[in-house]
Amino acid sequence: MNSPVSASDKDRVVIFDTTLRDGEQCPGASMTFEEKLEVADILDTMGVDIIEAGFPIASVGDFESVAEVARRARNAVIAGLARAIPADIARAGEAVRHARRPRIHTFVSTSPIHLAHQMRKSEEEVLEIIAATVAQARNLVDDVEWSAMDATRTPLAYLARCVDAAIKAGATTINLPDTVGYATPDEYRAMFRTMRETVANADKAVFSVHCHDDLGLAVANSLAGVEGGARQVECTINGLGERAGNAALEEIVMAIKTRGDVLPYTVGVETTMLTRASKLVSAVTSFPVQYNKAIVGRNAFAHESGIHQDGMLKEASTYEIMTPESVGVSKTSLVMGKHSGRHAFREKLKALGYDLGDNALEDAFRRFKDLADRKKDVYDEDIEALVDQGILTAH
Ligand code: KIV
Ligand code: ZN
Repeated sequence: MNSPVSASDKDRVVIFDTTLRDGEQCPGASMTFEEKLEVADILDTMGVDIIEAGFPIASVGDFESVAEVARRARNAVIAGLARAIPADIARAGEAVRHARRPRIHTFVSTSPIHLAHQMRKSEEEVLEIIAATVAQARNLVDDVEWSAMDATRTPLAYLARCVDAAIKAGATTINLPDTVGYATPDEYRAMFRTMRETVANADKAVFSVHCHDDLGLAVANSLAGVEGGARQVECTINGLGERAGNAALEEIVMAIKTRGDVLPYTVGVETTMLTRASKLVSAVTSFPVQYNKAIVGRNAFAHESGIHQDGMLKEASTYEIMTPESVGVSKTSLVMGKHSGRHAFREKLKALGYDLGDNALEDAFRRFKDLADRKKDVYDEDIEALVDQGILTAH
């Protein structure tokens, strides 16, 4: 078996990045061939275990970029997505065949809503499709992932029959997506537990989470799924993806790294590359990263309030639970504004090369507060100007 995780490696969580597939499905986030290669290169270098490089049947461009990513990847498994349709599976197999470690990822809907309105098929027909398409994929590659689209709105008894059919046909990874971002963490955790307890031979496959963020629960649900026994997390850089997006890779990885006390798992991603990867994906998709985005937002390591700045100057762990360096940011920034206190102001002056006596410092601080009340952003130049002005008027 070519899977990146073995049954004995029970606490290792493999990171499956789908920025180039589900991420690119986000309206307005399409990437050129060269941009996709650049993103794939950084993912491969930072130690992402599996890169879903695209949906080869979708277009000639998608096929070519998946094939090129497959040729270039040095470490990661390269996956191509396929619907449960023989032509899709054949095309995905062709696209990934030059990868050192190829994977076909095939999916079919399992929920009553999708069966009735989208597939127009019975439960029994879908079970036959699963058996046939997974077997077809397994004839092409050793590493086959099967996904139950809309798993979280599928009755558990039927979902268990689908999972059983996929494992019997040779699936090595079973992905149970929260396609519409509907689940809560408790429900999602319980779904994995039930599948692993009730499906015969469940231990032959790695279970996988894939969560969308429609209710803002994608990361929480992903971690709950891991607690339920899943050992693959599907996610994207910056949480890019359909509608409200997918679970953000950087948040999953840093949650596991930071909270090992309650999330006792290991991941292989080099975290110091997270900020670079985030900036690259934002630049090539022209999707800005919100300022207050966890881990990679501009404000993730910025402090403005006086109390926080004072604590940070004394000991960084007072208000930071991870170091900026650990995610590739050179240092914490103390943003000067109306909430800043004397301590931070004095440190800022020192950094700017000023050494003021007590009275001059007090005077400069008062004028800084007046300025900060009027001006939203106070830059270093503003502080230099008000100190220089004070020195001139004092003479
Ligand atoms: O959200 C979803 O269900 C998907 C599948 C194709 C895995 O993206
Ligand atoms: Zn998805």
